Amino acid sequence: MKNVLIIGGGGREHALGWALSRSQTGVNLFFAPGNAGTAGLPRAHNLALGAEEVEALTLHALEHRPDLVVVGPEVPLAAGLADNLRDAGLAVFGPGAVGARLEASKSWAKNFMQRHNIPTAAQKIFEETQPALQYLEEQTGPFVIKADGLAAGKGVLVTGDLLEARKFVQEALGGDLFGQAGRLILIEEFMTGLEVSILALCDTVSKVIIPLEPASDYKRAFDGDQGPNTGGMGAYSPPGFMTPELRQRIDTEILQPTLNGLIAEGIDYRGIVYAGLMITPQGPKVVEYNCRFGDPETQSLIPRLESDIFEVLDYTARGKLAELPPLQWKPGVSVGVVLASGGYPGPYAKGRPVSGLENFDNSGEVFLFHAGTGFGPNGKVVTAGGRVFNLIVLGEEMANARQHVYNILDEDVIRFEGLNYRRDIAAREVE
Ligand code: AMP
Ligand code: GLY
Repeated sequence: MKNVLIIGGGGREHALGWALSRSQTGVNLFFAPGNAGTAGLPRAHNLALGAEEVEALTLHALEHRPDLVVVGPEVPLAAGLADNLRDAGLAVFGPGAVGARLEASKSWAKNFMQRHNIPTAAQKIFEETQPALQYLEEQTGPFVIKADGLAAGKGVLVTGDLLEARKFVQEALGGDLFGQAGRLILIEEFMTGLEVSILALCDTVSKVIIPLEPASDYKRAFDGDQGPNTGGMGAYSPPGFMTPELRQRIDTEILQPTLNGLIAEGIDYRGIVYAGLMITPQGPKVVEYNCRFGDPETQSLIPRLESDIFEVLDYTARGKLAELPPLQWKPGVSVGVVLASGGYPGPYAKGRPVSGLENFDNSGEVFLFHAGTGFGPNGKVVTAGGRVFNLIVLGEEMANARQHVYNILDEDVIRFEGLNYRRDIAAREVE
């Protein structure tokens, strides 16, 4: 038996934990903090430790010395949790603080891409309000403005409205909209094209980068890509436009140069490089990097993966990814819809009882992963976050899988007050 500590408590961590619980290796799972779904996995325990309590997590891990630590979210990675644990000889899936700058500092990531000729949108970096406003006046729009640091997905504005753009600049640089994260901003060239998320296993020790299957996520709150940005409202895999030629181009033009750049700069990177790409008329360009598994992409990808996830994560963490047998994927597709609390990404209620959970056993082609869930006073599952569940359906093709996921939702198989979801996940694939 191996002991695996998973940091985080969202749908991503439930999906990873579910797959780990089925590993041939046999694992005991410890989640910090986990959710109601992870608590129900076999041989699993939720710990009373938050994903951002880096010191307490370090102490816990050094005391218990798990065989593998998997860090889900970006905040503890950027704060150096993986460095602390690796320095103490533990196997950790996730980069150290230096590698995590790919996500934690957009200006650092842009400079990295420039140093290594990785295609991305042109941009200018500003520290002062006046020159930034001046520069905005000279642009035609749409305007793309980003806070440099971590802002939980809220640090990006894309707008055709110059007044809104000016306000964002003033509030970030002049005010305190993003705190330290907004001390620098980037004003970027607007790119057009289709978006795709490429999550790649990256190991600078054995020097390989291996993409998972491509996925598309939906960042806006409402159908038709309307409303505010969220953490993600659904994802499907694979997008139909991802031809073998395009996959090859992404490997040659984006992934290999990213790996080589990390190696050239002496950065020990063992974890996921997530490249958010825009497929522009000139070819694939990086919109952003993340230093971790995407959420909700991971929930739509994991049920498609046939390889043993413990081996995948463990080989990467130990710097032996080059020795891993090729990844095996189930044929077919997946569609995943996020079930959110009404009001999300704004204020929303918590503690709403959930019913219908007994209809899901995550063994066939339908998967219910918990995200923001917890236990109420009577031990029953209640809502505890903005994104509450991910409902994933596998299918031979997108049309059936889509139909199946929305049939389950239409029949109210799972219910809580305020349940809210997008109806157009993967719709563009079947139109
Ligand atoms: P990010 O957090 O950097 O991924 O940005 C959030 C979303 O804003 C992306 O998924 C894109 O849809 C959009 N976006 C970001 N940068 C650009 C850009 N340079 N051109 C067009 N759209 C962008
Ligand atoms: N799905 C986007 C993210 O994980 O940041």
